Amino acid sequence: MLALVFPILVLVGGCDGNGSSNTVITPTIPEPEPEPEPEPPRQVFETPEALGESLFFDTNLSLNRTQACATCHDPDRGFTDGRLDANGDVSAFSLGDDGFSFGGRNAPTAAYAAFTPDFQFGSQSRFNSQQPDYVGFIGGQFLDGRAVDLKAQAKGPPIAAKEMGMPDAAAVVERLLEDPSYEASFQALYGESIFDDVDAAYDAMGDAIAAYERTEVFSTFTSKYDKSLTGDYIYAPDTPAALGRALFFSQQFTNCATCHQLRPNSNRNEVFTNFGYHNIGVPVNETARIAANIPLDAPDEGLFGHPDVDDPAERGKFKVPTLRNVAVTSPYMHNGVFRRLDTVIRFYDQFLTASENTINPETGAPWREPPIPETVALTELRDGRLLEDFEIDALVCFLRTLTDERYEALIPEDGLVCD
Ligand code: HEC
Ligand code: HEC
Repeated sequence: MLALVFPILVLVGGCDGNGSSNTVITPTIPEPEPEPEPEPPRQVFETPEALGESLFFDTNLSLNRTQACATCHDPDRGFTDGRLDANGDVSAFSLGDDGFSFGGRNAPTAAYAAFTPDFQFGSQSRFNSQQPDYVGFIGGQFLDGRAVDLKAQAKGPPIAAKEMGMPDAAAVVERLLEDPSYEASFQALYGESIFDDVDAAYDAMGDAIAAYERTEVFSTFTSKYDKSLTGDYIYAPDTPAALGRALFFSQQFTNCATCHQLRPNSNRNEVFTNFGYHNIGVPVNETARIAANIPLDAPDEGLFGHPDVDDPAERGKFKVPTLRNVAVTSPYMHNGVFRRLDTVIRFYDQFLTASENTINPETGAPWREPPIPETVALTELRDGRLLEDFEIDALVCFLRTLTDERYEALIPEDGLVCD
């Protein structure tokens, strides 16, 4: 008898985290039936931004309800995918909702994406006097610009097989209708009859998510760099961070500003990309491709994969990414092939004549050939002078100052002294 009762008592005691076993089960005294409570008022999102925020975090927009936009664009990690691979490193490619499919690209940050102009052909001033203005494709969302703007972009992932995996827009709209507060909010914000037309409802979903992505939550401009423009931070003279800043914006010493500067120096709201497209010769990420079961031989065509682009001169070009929060969003490049910022800078240095940076410090082997050598931006990449090791560190230090305040704790602790 005792043996039977004992486990029950232990179990009951465990539930409230209190180990004492003096819990006694007493017969419950029947209480009068409570008055039925009035239904709680449905939460109605009053703005597209608020609705979009809820959608951005909602795993119900994926087939198995396992992932949301925020899974691959985690606000705690600079709006990138921080999930780890089998080796415990941040995965180069993102795992889809089905639990086994991988896309072949590294999830870029969704932060500051609101500043990207719509996809177009045009020209852009360059603030590096060595180089003429940029002429070519500009902007758009995704690394090949195939979504014209944020709204078009947001309509992609829920119905992408290797991402959220829903069969079509109608299925996503059905999921929206499972939630009465969504139903009421969409109707209030986009019209009573919004759900009569699946495409209109799906478009409204994209609109709301894009509205949220345009809020200050995504683009806080609170880095040390930003503070330096308002006098709230000083790049102390003779520090590596100050040297890195000078090198980055310099006209002769580096070429970074040719592609990663949009506005005249010291202008507010710099996003550190001119939104142009270049092939900088990034090698195939063989390790990630093997793990993801993606063939090694077919190179990522980048911009040439855009449905409206058919000029082979655009092969292998990728949109210049923002450098904001780059210190906390490793791994790098469209395929996550590099893990450290000093590696990225040595990679650039190898294009310069007589560079001693002939070895990839992460693999110990020589840099591998660009998968599409014909279109590499050699004119821009060969502009600049060789960097000493302390200058490479200085550039890393400067890039660290582009970290928004809320992510500063994520900057790698590797002993590099910057300021
Ligand atoms: C499974 C991971 C995954 C999910 C889920 C996901 N994304 Fe992405 N996102 C990516 C990857 C990978 C890319 C780059 C793909 C490419 O260029 O082809 C990307 C690109 C983007 C971009 C373009 C950024 C730029 O600089 O061009 C934005 C914005 C974005 N995603 C927002 C979203 C939103 C909004 C959702 C939810 C509706 C979402 N993502 C869901 C992985 C994901
Ligand atoms: C010719 C234009 C060009 C020049 C010059 C250039 N970049 Fe880039 N940068 C790019 C492009 C394009 C990419 C993305 C390439 C890819 O994904 O294949 C990139 C990627 C990066 C990344 C990785 C960002 C990420 O989130 O993955 C960093 C860091 C970077 N550049 C820093 C620099 C620095 C520092 C310099 C100067 C030493 C520089 N770049 C010079 C065009 C350029």
